[in-house]
This record gives sequence, structure tokens and C-alpha cells, in this order.
Amino acid sequence: MPTEVVRRQEELRRQADLNPVAWFPRQPELVAAARREVAPFVGARAEDTAFVPNASAAATVVYNSLRLEPGDEILVSDHGYGAVTMGARRLARRFGARVRTVAVPLAASADEVTERFREELTDAVRLVVVDQITSPTARLLPTARIAEAARERGARVLVDGAHAPGLVADAAAVAGADWWFGNLHKWPCAPRGAALLVAGPVAGPVVGPAAGASAGASAAAAEGVVAGAADRDELWPLIDSWGADQPYPERFDTQGTLDATAYIAAPDAINFIERQHGWARARETMSALADHGAAVVAEALQPYVDAPVRTDVGMPVPSMRLLRLPEGLGRDRTDADELRLRLLDLAGVETAFTSVEGVGYLRLSVHLYTEPSDFEAFVERALPQLLAFAHERKPT
Ligand SMILES: Cc1ncc(COP(=O)(O)O)c(C=O)c1O
Repeated sequence: MPTEVVRRQEELRRQADLNPVAWFPRQPELVAAARREVAPFVGARAEDTAFVPNASAAATVVYNSLRLEPGDEILVSDHGYGAVTMGARRLARRFGARVRTVAVPLAASADEVTERFREELTDAVRLVVVDQITSPTARLLPTARIAEAARERGARVLVDGAHAPGLVADAAAVAGADWWFGNLHKWPCAPRGAALLVAGPVAGPVVGPAAGASAGASAAAAEGVVAGAADRDELWPLIDSWGADQPYPERFDTQGTLDATAYIAAPDAINFIERQHGWARARETMSALADHGAAVVAEALQPYVDAPVRTDVGMPVPSMRLLRLPEGLGRDRTDADELRLRLLDLAGVETAFTSVEGVGYLRLSVHLYTEPSDFEAFVERALPQLLAFAHERKPT
């Protein structure tokens, strides 16, 4: 978080703690004001947008709103975020429905991905859950095109845009979803516990100070890539509270005595980056830095890896790159997670490792605070540890 956002949240918390009786009756209006300011950042209208604590909560809200029939199907992809896919499975179990998984090749183009989904879409599919930016493989998926194909078969589409705010301009507007959600506590650097759920993200007039990166929203709507079929009356916050008699999304503004300072301070983070860099330029900067970092780390890793370290993901995102690990590392998700903790403990380096089809990858991420020297430091401190782990795993 930018320091000024940390301070702003601290100040809001101080006000709440000094006089909770004065704070809580006013908190819903502060949340609504933040919602009005933040919605244009993702190309959405405030009246379609609710604050939720995180992406997982948004998925849960949508899953809770759905009624399926036995035999119905939910389509997910093998690049989906595990926890969100688990929620889809629980939804299916409740109604005797089933989940099917679309296999997407790592380097697939937009055409190929759309075709894979098209092949799996049957009339039994009621819901498609698809990521705008995938977590394990750090790539874009052509959600608007997938949504178009889904709609032709009468299915509705939930787009997991957890990583999209800040990385995809007008993320909600261009997703083409019936419901879209995204985290503000990832790339926009808002306080943890701030995410948006957008129902039927029909792009409306985009206004407000946080609209800096949103100029394309109305154009996206005009091109017809956005649809709005969601039944918002069925969307309820996870906490029933005094907003219960209000319509969507106002009822999400009231969540009892929950600390909503992350929501209220979220526009400060978005505006800070807009002011300091401009979001469009921030994406370009991240992209160039990610390429540089990938080149530095790949050069160091390549002698120890039999296949190309730099991995083609088909549709890359601005800030993340996938680098193949030496054999034996990150064979599955548990192993990849364990590597992350070992490296943190032994080298003091924060990393993300993922595992795709039995192959381990380093998911290199950069943000505006990343320095080129960070990559050299990574090679110096983390590479020897990684090679030692790989050596341990070698069959004797
Ligand atoms: C694609 C995707 N979906 C959902 C989530 C869940 O986000 P949260 O833990 O903030 O609920 C993540 C988190 O990394 C993610 O990458």
C-alpha cells in the first residue's frame, strides 16, 4: 500500500475507534461514496457495483444467488482459481448438478481458448466460471468471447477478475459477464479486504475522479461486448444486516460493525497511482519491467532447465511472467506452496510458484515499486536455494 493510503486508513480507524457511536451510522454513506468513486475505475456504474471483502466473497455471493436443477452443468477451466472452483463444486453438489472442466493449453490463443469452451458448451450448461486473468498461469482469457458463446447456449457467465483491476483497463466493462468481480487489494494497492462485485456490468456514463483509466468503458458497451442479464435481486451480502430492506447494491453498504475502512480508503490508492504515474502508463512500465526481469532470471535459470525457461502463455498480462523451474520443483500445488515458504524462510525472498500439469513455474510479478536490481538480488539469493531444493528432489 502507498504510505499515504496506510495513513488514511489508520486515520479512518482512529475516527471509528474514538467514537463508534458517531461512526457507524455514517459508515454506509462513506462506503456508498467510495463505491461511486471506485466503480468507474473498472468501467462500471456505481448502481451495479457492491463492495465485498474479497474475490472469494464475491464468488460466494453469486453462488448463493443461484438455483440449479439436477443434471445442470457448470463449466470451469483448468486455469481457474482453486478456491473459486471449489465453490462451484459445492454449488453443484447442493442441486445435484455437476462441474465440468475445460482444458486450456497453456499457450492457447484467444481463438483456441474460445473454441475449447465452445466445444464443451452444451444445453445443460447453466453457468460458466472463467478467469479474466488466471492465477496459476498468469494469462488473459478472452472472457467476452467466451461469454458470447455461452449466451448462445443459454448459459450465464461469472468472470473472476480478481487480478484484473489496474491490469485491464475498464476490467468489468470489457469482461462481457453477467457477474464480474475483482480485488482492489491486489494491483490497485488498496487496503486488504476491498473487492468489487459488479452485476450485469453494463457500462454507463463514467464519471468521478477515479475514472482516469476508464475512458474506453462506454465504447466497450457500444460495441456490445457487455451484457447485463444478472438477477441482482438475488444478490445478498454474506452478512445480513440493517441494509436488508434495501435493493442491490445499497444493502451491501451496511454490514453491522464490520470495519469498512478498506473500502473507504480504496479510492485513495487508485487515485494515488493515477496521480503519480497514470494507470495506462503504469501498465506499460510494469510490462517492460516484467520482460526485463524475466530475461534476467531466465538467463540465470536456463542452464539448469532442459526446456525453454521463458514460457509462452498465449495472452500475457502486463505485470506477470511464467518461468519454468528445474525439474522436480513444483510438481503439484502443495509442493509449489511449500517452496514459497521455504524460500521465504531461507532466503527472505517473496515469490509465487505454481504448478501446471506436473511442471513447476516461478510466477514472476512486478509492480511500480519493483527495481531492476531486485531481479539480480533474486538470482543471487534465491537461485542457489532453488538449485539445492532441486538437487534434493533428484532421484538417486
Ligand atoms: C483468480 C483469483 N480468483 C480469486 C482469488 C481469491 O482472492 P481473495 O483471496 O482475495 O478472496 C484470487 C487470489 O489470488 C485469484 O488470483
